[in-house]
Amino acid sequence: MTYTSRKRVLVTGGAGFLGSHLCERLIERGDDVLCVDNFYTGTKDNVAHLLEDPHFELMRHDVTFPLYVEIDEIYNLACPASPVHYQRDPVQTTKTSVHGAINMLGLAKRTGAKILQASTSEVYGDPEVHPQPESYWGRVNPLGPRACYDEGKRCAETLFFDYFRQHGLRIKVARIFNTYGPRMAPDDGRVVSNFILQALSDEPITIFGDGRQTRSFCFVDDLVDGLIRMMDTPDDITGPVNLGNAAEITVRELAEAVIERTGSSSQLIFEPLPADDPRQRRPELSRAEESLGWAPSTDLAEGLTRTIDYFRRKWTANAAPGKAG
Ligand SMILES: NC(=O)c1ccc[n+]([C@@H]2O[C@H](COP(=O)([O-])OP(=O)(O)OC[C@H]3O[C@@H](n4cnc5c(N)ncnc54)[C@H](O)[C@@H]3O)[C@@H](O)[C@H]2O)c1
Repeated sequence: MTYTSRKRVLVTGGAGFLGSHLCERLIERGDDVLCVDNFYTGTKDNVAHLLEDPHFELMRHDVTFPLYVEIDEIYNLACPASPVHYQRDPVQTTKTSVHGAINMLGLAKRTGAKILQASTSEVYGDPEVHPQPESYWGRVNPLGPRACYDEGKRCAETLFFDYFRQHGLRIKVARIFNTYGPRMAPDDGRVVSNFILQALSDEPITIFGDGRQTRSFCFVDDLVDGLIRMMDTPDDITGPVNLGNAAEITVRELAEAVIERTGSSSQLIFEPLPADDPRQRRPELSRAEESLGWAPSTDLAEGLTRTIDYFRRKWTANAAPGKAG
């Protein structure tokens, strides 16, 4: 592949969990990748293995400020994604979603780039409809502690569709449901990483509520495949398109699966549910199947094994002499 035939692809939030896998896959398929991140929740470690690659570039930048680069495609992933991270500085979370979207849409307008927004199932809030189709408008509490994320992401979607209608931008909106896998931040308070870390250290596993609330989990490789397919769709496909895994599991069953796979002696303990925690969340995936020819293919057993292997390696490395902390 010649230099000029390579696509120049910008990944904002590229040093995060999903972004780092996306950068890797785009380079593998022959793109030139510019990863932009302010390292708020992402780390250089996540992309350290790409730094020597001539087709990868890492730039420290906060998307709430304008960015001037020449680019063909933009994946806009920059935003803290887990409640502990996005509630730490809620004003900054809304700014990142809203100002970040405005800045990246402005960049797409100037360069003529195609732009994909990493939206979220949280736009559905605490839904009255199961599973959630893209046509469902959602039930979000605009005043609660999750609103900085949920409403920020909803406003970003609005901006994408206004730039599409008003300026003819080529947009793609993907609504991502719970995703897990290697490189999840260990301190993100998410159920999969929490359970694995607690199990690996034989500590009690904390379940919020009675554990009967259900979740569906998509493995990161499947999700990244869906994002790339979405970007590659014809211009008339804008989304929103749900991406996730429809297989439902209760939180308690997940804890038990983690205990079994880690061979842990952890016990389960139960604590009160946090505010606005959804009781059930499951994607309706027929639009993804029809318009992207996409469906997740990694089952929970395989995905959990690969994620546990990653945390075990990290955990062992951190516990090694001279690598305290
Ligand atoms: N992981 C999931 O299950 C999930 C579910 C739904 C939506 N999403 C969306 O996917 C995207 C990536 O999520 P993730 O799980 O990889 O989270 P993450 O926290 O690992 O990644 C987000 C990245 O964005 C960076 N970032 C945050 N604010 C920034 C700013 N102002 N400027 C530049 N960079 C900034 C962070 O440093 C981090 O590297 C997010 O937009 C998130 O809302 C993720």
